Amino acid sequence: MKNSFLAIALLAVLALSCKQADPYGYVVKDNQIVYNTPPRPADQQSMLGFAAEPIENVRVGLIGLGDRGTGAVYRFPYQDYATVVALCDLYPERVENAQKILEELGAPRAKYEYSGEEGYKQLCERDDIDLVYLAVPWQLHTPIAVYAMEHGKHVAIEVPAATSIKECWDLVNTSERTRKHCMMLENCCYDFFELTCLNMVQKGVFGEIVHAEGAYCHNLDPYWDVYQGDWRMIYNREHHGDVYPTHGIGPVCQDLNIHRGDKMDVLVSMDTDAFSGQEAADKRYGKGAYKYANGDNTTTIIRTRKGKTILVEHCVVNPRPYNRMYQLTGTKGFANKYPNEGLALGNEHLENVAYDDLDAETYMSDAERDAVMEAYKHPILKDLEEKARKVGGHGGMDFIMDYRLFYCLHFGLPLDQDVYDAAEWSSLVELTEMSINHGSMPVVMPDFTRGEWDKMDGLTLAMAE
Ligand SMILES: NC(=O)c1ccc[n+]([C@@H]2O[C@H](COP(=O)([O-])OP(=O)(O)OC[C@H]3O[C@@H](n4cnc5c(N)ncnc54)[C@H](O)[C@@H]3O)[C@@H](O)[C@H]2O)c1
Repeated sequence: MKNSFLAIALLAVLALSCKQADPYGYVVKDNQIVYNTPPRPADQQSMLGFAAEPIENVRVGLIGLGDRGTGAVYRFPYQDYATVVALCDLYPERVENAQKILEELGAPRAKYEYSGEEGYKQLCERDDIDLVYLAVPWQLHTPIAVYAMEHGKHVAIEVPAATSIKECWDLVNTSERTRKHCMMLENCCYDFFELTCLNMVQKGVFGEIVHAEGAYCHNLDPYWDVYQGDWRMIYNREHHGDVYPTHGIGPVCQDLNIHRGDKMDVLVSMDTDAFSGQEAADKRYGKGAYKYANGDNTTTIIRTRKGKTILVEHCVVNPRPYNRMYQLTGTKGFANKYPNEGLALGNEHLENVAYDDLDAETYMSDAERDAVMEAYKHPILKDLEEKARKVGGHGGMDFIMDYRLFYCLHFGLPLDQDVYDAAEWSSLVELTEMSINHGSMPVVMPDFTRGEWDKMDGLTLAMAE
C-alpha cells in the first residue's frame, strides 16, 4: 500500500516536471493551473497591427470542399477583390463539384486542382497563390496553416483555428516569423446585431461593459453523418471541454477589447455528464462501444485583467433551439440577441418603482430598438448589408466576413481578426478541458501577445478611405 502510494507520488512529480520542461505547458501552483508564456524568439516580431503589401486581386487556394468549403465556393464569385485559382479536397469528385458551381455562377474554373491526403502541400508550394483558405476538419487546421505560411501564403482558417495550446503557439510563432496573416474565420463577429452592438459599445452607448455572455448551443443530431470520416463526433467523443468556443467567445472579446486594452486572465470550466452525448454515440457505434467524453453542457467563466467576466456555453447534443447567446451587460445598458433581439438602455425611468414591480426594467419596444439599431448601424454594414443578405451564408454574415478579409488584403490594411485572436479564442479548447480534468480548477491563461495586450487602444475595423 505504502509502496504503491510512493509510486503514484513519483509519477505525479514526473508528470509535473515534464510539463514544466514544456515551454507551452503548465504547472499546478497554489491550486491553479498556470500556463507558461514562453519568450518571443529573436527571429520573430509582433503581428499586432500588421498590414501586408496591398494585393490587387487576391488569388485564393481553397482547401476542404465539404459542407463549409462548398458554401465558400458559392459565395466567392460575388467578391470584388478575389478569385479562386486553386481547389483541393481529399476527394477529386468534390473538387469537380466545386468547379461546376463556379461555372454555374459564371466564374472561371479554378486553374489548379489537387486531391488526396497531401494534395494541399502542392497547392501551398505554388508561387501564384496569395491566400490559403481552409475548411478542413479541426485536426488539420494548424498543420496545414503552418505549412501554408511557411510557403509564403497568408492563411484564413475555419473555426476553431487550433485544438491545443501547442497548436495556438505554432500559429502565433509561424505568423510572427513568416510575417504572414493568420486570420481565423470567426463569422459570428460579422452578424448584423453583433456588428451594430460593437459600434454601440465603441460609442459608449452601454457605458462600460462589465459582463458578457456567448454560446454555441446547436443540436448537431441531424448532422453527425455529414462530417467526412466522422471527424467531429470522434473529437467530441474523446474530449471534455468547450471544443467549439469561438462563435460564443469571439464577438464578446471584440466588445471587451481583448488584447487591445484588456486580457483574459483566468478561467474555470465545468461540464455535465454526457447524457444525450452517450446516447448519440451508442446510436452511432452500438451500445457501450465508446464512452463519450464531452459533457452535454459545458459552462466556462473567464475573468479579465480589468475585472470583467465572460460566460461561455457549449451544448451540441440536447434538443434545444439554436442559441449563441450574445449578451452584453454594461453600466448604462444591456443587449441580448437570443432568443429575441433586445436592448435596454438607461434607467432614468426607474424612479418611484414599487418594490414588487419586477417589470420596471424592461426592453425597449421593437420599434424603439429598430430605430436605435438603424441609428448605430455599423459603418461597414451601410454599403454591404443588401448584397450580403442576397448572397447569404448564415443570413449574410459569411459574405461580410469574406468581404472584409479580401478588402483588407486588397488595400493592404490590418485584418479585423489577427493571429492573437485566433490563438486566444481557440485556446479555450484545451484550457477548458484542462480545468474540467482537474475538478474545475482555475486556469491561468497564457498571453499570446507576450505582454503586449495593452499596447493597442481598442479594436479598429480598418477602412481604406
Ligand atoms: N464558421 C461556421 O459557421 C462553420 C460552419 C460549419 C463548419 N465550420 C468549420 O469548417 C470546417 C469544415 O467543416 P465541414 O462541416 O465542412 O466538414 P466536412 O467534413 O463536411 O468537410 C471537410 C472537408 O475536408 C476534406 N478533407 C479532409 N482531409 C483533407 C485533406 N488532407 N486535404 C484536403 N481536404 C481534406 C474532406 O474531404 C471534406 O470534404 C470545420 O473546421 C468546421 O468547424 C464552420
